[in-house]
Amino acid sequence: MPIGVVVGGFFGDEGKGSVVGYLALKDKPEICVRGGVGPNAGHTVLYNGKEYKLRQIPSGLIYEKCRLLIGPGVLVNPDVLFDEIKKYSVDPSRVGIDKHTGIIRSQHIEREKKSKHLKEEIQSTLTGCGEANVDRVRRILSLAKDIDSLAEYIVDVPEEIWRAIDQNKLVLIEGTQGTFLSLYHGTYPFVTSKDVCASAICSDVGVGPKDVDDVIVVFKAYVTRVGAGPLLGELSKEEIEERGWTEYGTVTGRLRRAAPFSFDLARRAIKLNSATQIAITKLDVVFPETAGVRKWDKLSDRAKKFILEIEDTLGVPVTIIRTGKEVLDVIDRR
Ligand code: IMP
Ligand code: MG
Repeated sequence: MPIGVVVGGFFGDEGKGSVVGYLALKDKPEICVRGGVGPNAGHTVLYNGKEYKLRQIPSGLIYEKCRLLIGPGVLVNPDVLFDEIKKYSVDPSRVGIDKHTGIIRSQHIEREKKSKHLKEEIQSTLTGCGEANVDRVRRILSLAKDIDSLAEYIVDVPEEIWRAIDQNKLVLIEGTQGTFLSLYHGTYPFVTSKDVCASAICSDVGVGPKDVDDVIVVFKAYVTRVGAGPLLGELSKEEIEERGWTEYGTVTGRLRRAAPFSFDLARRAIKLNSATQIAITKLDVVFPETAGVRKWDKLSDRAKKFILEIEDTLGVPVTIIRTGKEVLDVIDRR
């Protein structure tokens, strides 16, 4: 897998961070680069008993040898970025932000907080991403190269990626949000402020479609959604609790809505992302007996049946199966 992109197949919160963290540890990429919207996304990785909650830095952080880049299509809130670098003692020489990465200011957050539409109808994360993208479209947004405090991090991200590709080194591209939060392909208007499918994530970091070898679409073993918008098969709060599917958002702490795995959404996500592999996360939440299992043969029959049904129905191999919170709780079928 010289160049792989990891994207969400549902409404975000599929567990992309843990999948990227696992691939980084196993495959040892030269570069882990983040595409997607910006700090409205929260990726969580649990490694060696330590929890990393990342809104800007790529989840490849836990593999200490890779470069950690943020693409020009992404938004950065410098406060959030500096907090993460400090909190997780990230070596600054590993971090690179493209000169054209957009900058979120407090005014963007203030504008979103004042919007009844965003706050109440869309139930946005109110992290300033949408308003910053508005300013980018108006061509008045500040870019990373304009910000003195970011000077030591400014690089040309596409150039770094192309150099790695030319040297046959591995590049891991981390998407954020999920297919049905895409501005174009999601449940508009209950979506985020950009397209977040694989093509867009690649564009965010400066990679064209022919350079991508693998697209890994991440599905959780059930569907969740935070914020407003349709969710087919939505369970009641009581049903969610009974099934043990209760979850809270990484960025906003909001209770996530939930529904059973959707083959219809999954089929569409496969097409929209031209997925070559599927990662299934939180299998142990739906099938508790699989908790911590790292070998296919040790899975229960009903869990195997669920995975094989996904492969048969969707026609794409399930290569990564996550069975616990620790980043190495994985059945790797690649
Ligand atoms: P915004 O992108 O913060 O404006 O939020 C728009 C909608 O997308 C809201 O329903 C959010 O809850 C949802 N959303 C945005 N980013 C994420 C994410 O990373 N995970 C899950 N939901 C998200
Ligand atoms: Mg999240």
